[in-house]
Amino acid sequence: MDPDQPDTGVPASPRRRRFIALAAAAGAAAVPGAAQAATGDDVPTNLPPNLPPNVPPNVPPQVPEWMRAPGAGFLSPPYGLPSPFEKNVVRKLPDQVAAFPTATRTPLQSLFGSLTPNGLFFERHHAGVPAIDPAQHRLMLHGLVERPLLLSMKDLLRFPAVSRSHFIECSGNSIAEFKAPGQGTVQDIHGLLSGAEWTGVRLSDVLAEAGLLPSASWILAEGADAAAMSRSIPLAKALDDALLVYGQNGEMLRPEQGYPLRLLLPGFEGNMNIKWLRRLKVGDAPFQTREETSKYTDLMPDGTARQFTFQMGVKSVITAPSARQVLDGHGFREISGLAWSGQGRIARVEVSLDGGRHWEAAALDGPVQSRALTRFRCPWVWAGQEAILQSRAFDEAGNVQPTRAALLASDGQHSIYHYNAIQSWQVARNGEVSNVHV
Ligand code: CO
Repeated sequence: MDPDQPDTGVPASPRRRRFIALAAAAGAAAVPGAAQAATGDDVPTNLPPNLPPNVPPNVPPQVPEWMRAPGAGFLSPPYGLPSPFEKNVVRKLPDQVAAFPTATRTPLQSLFGSLTPNGLFFERHHAGVPAIDPAQHRLMLHGLVERPLLLSMKDLLRFPAVSRSHFIECSGNSIAEFKAPGQGTVQDIHGLLSGAEWTGVRLSDVLAEAGLLPSASWILAEGADAAAMSRSIPLAKALDDALLVYGQNGEMLRPEQGYPLRLLLPGFEGNMNIKWLRRLKVGDAPFQTREETSKYTDLMPDGTARQFTFQMGVKSVITAPSARQVLDGHGFREISGLAWSGQGRIARVEVSLDGGRHWEAAALDGPVQSRALTRFRCPWVWAGQEAILQSRAFDEAGNVQPTRAALLASDGQHSIYHYNAIQSWQVARNGEVSNVHV
């Protein structure tokens, strides 16, 4: 052990050693003595070789300005906020805004891990965000049940609770990719996708409390927004893994995510996860609401439309690097992204550097959970060559993320929902990353 090196107790990995060597080789000549001692009891020795001749005031071994006086106090503010230096990491409307914007997108390129912070979770609503007083909010459960129920939030909070990680993806996510490659960032192209740890009550427990009649087979779910957003839910899903959710990432739902109560149907298209849930009516047939007849159906090449296409397909996207980024130098970097499937756990993710001719397995962050965002990672050394980066996901049900050509061959170009094709990012010699269709 070199006595001048900090002992982290962890031997540097071979890859880490290589990375450090590259960084040092790219740096300026060593200038020991140019810097000033940091803290009096520590004479700097063995300084990094890339230390500039005139060390800027806030760079070690100099003492930065934020060490020279106490910082902000507690509770500033009481509800914590990101650093002001992160002010550009926000939800946004797409670059080409419709006259009447209907959704905001998650900054996938700026996030780590597999959970989306509550303030960055994408929004899609059909008549604005209602301002609901939870004390006045009720869930009415009626129809083909033995005992109709009117439940307050206090009632629901007394049921046994579960917390589970699941993604929500708008079925219209990536919609423009059916046509031409979008020119925005991964946020603009694929940002109607987020993941959270949800806390709530099993819908099956609440249905058991009401008692289903034998003919029960569908449930109408209705939101308390001005659109009375409504969808028909098959009873099998309601009894399987559906939740009545009030918690998101450890706190109450945000207003734009359905405060104080939403339906969560893991793996089903986003609009079915009815927000501001106020009513469940049990019936014996689908209710044929507007949002499952004129909207959220899939027009096929032969002119017929698929209805009740609930499950989101197996899909993945590389978020780092991604469109409109510029690689800031040659050498090691990690390719990283997200994979998910409406039909269960991600089984495998593969990454290609050459537009799909060769594939190698990516590492998955664990634990890999069912119908949840899964972070994948793949080491890469970029030496300035052109590349076309792709990822393709496989789920435990045996589904494989299709190429764009295969998706268009099966679904045509009339559909605007359920686009889950492989995404291609082209890396140019100058490091610019752009969206291409190959
Ligand atoms: Co659908």
